Amino acid sequence: MTLPAPASTTSDSAARPDVPTVGFRLSGIGAALPETVVTNHDLTTTIDTSDEWIRDRTGIGQRFVGGTTAGLATEAAAQAMKRAEVGAEEIDQLLLATTSPDFICPGTAPAVAARLGLDCGALDIQAACSGWVYGLIMANGLLLQGQKKVLVVGAETLDRITDYSARDTGILFGNGAGAAVVEADPNGPGELLGWDMGADGNYVDILYAEHGGHLQMNGKEVFRQAVRAIERSAVAAMARAGLGASDIDLVIPHQANINIIESAWKRVGFTMEQTGMRLEEIGNTSAASIPLVLDDMLDSGRIQPGANVMFLGFGAGMTWATAIIRWSGEIRP
Ligand code: ACO
Repeated sequence: MTLPAPASTTSDSAARPDVPTVGFRLSGIGAALPETVVTNHDLTTTIDTSDEWIRDRTGIGQRFVGGTTAGLATEAAAQAMKRAEVGAEEIDQLLLATTSPDFICPGTAPAVAARLGLDCGALDIQAACSGWVYGLIMANGLLLQGQKKVLVVGAETLDRITDYSARDTGILFGNGAGAAVVEADPNGPGELLGWDMGADGNYVDILYAEHGGHLQMNGKEVFRQAVRAIERSAVAAMARAGLGASDIDLVIPHQANINIIESAWKRVGFTMEQTGMRLEEIGNTSAASIPLVLDDMLDSGRIQPGANVMFLGFGAGMTWATAIIRWSGEIRP
């Protein structure tokens, strides 16, 4: 695919001609979690399991349940817009990544747009746990087309498609939402340095849910394919950006399973010190997990201006997506 010529380029983008850029900043981040917590101990009443086993095999300590996808998405997006100091009339597009929409039809994004008072295009992205990163990369394309501000949300109510009596899937999934206002910033230092998106539909049957059903999973195969997808996507995005593993200041991977991440990191050369994690607190929230971690990283001052930040999504499909950003976005005091 040939991308249109960039409207304007920042200083060093000429070194990477295949990554057109208009200047790219995440000017406000928001997050939302429902009130109800389900701990690993709580699950032992419905599943033959233990807190120790779940922590050891997944890194998860608890998850949140309840709410609706539109409700959580709206809460996170409103917070992101407030932090970015942008009004509803300024948003040019809403992209909502979700695996658990409120309805099969219509999409959830139009309902969220209406609640936020937006007057713009609104659509759902169904790319499972990679969806929010897909949205981020697509937002860069929309900025290249002349849009100025794109809202990218990841929101899930996975409790509606999770069987909390199943030993494999019942221990993993929870609800939540995260959102970012993505702005064109032609004269700023922020930039999408590199990206990668991919899918392999030969693995549809290792993680899926049928209409009206629960998630079904071949855990060992998901583990194997996830590690492969992570390595492949991280390496491709870094090659595009002209960066190596040690050049990345912070990697935020999809929060699936600590053992998947540690296995993949050995192949790619990342360390856990470089890594943003929130898995123990929130469980696997699919498309919401990466912006939920990003929000937490900003709260704890882990991101500084000019940092190279990588977002790495992988999930059902299989799908995968990686975005590397030079950060010039929101910083919290
Ligand atoms: N609690 C306690 N014991 C359990 C449980 C449980 N929930 N489930 C299985 N066991 C026991 C089994 O009985 C078996 O015992 P045995 O050795 O005495 O026979 C042992 O643990 C191993 O069972 P397996 O089914 O082989 O479990 P495995 O080691 O594969 O772990 C798990 C299961 C954690 C689901 C793992 O396969 C996994 O994490 N896969 C990746 C799945 C994932 O992350 N999916 C996320 C969605 S996709 C995404 O976001 C990318």
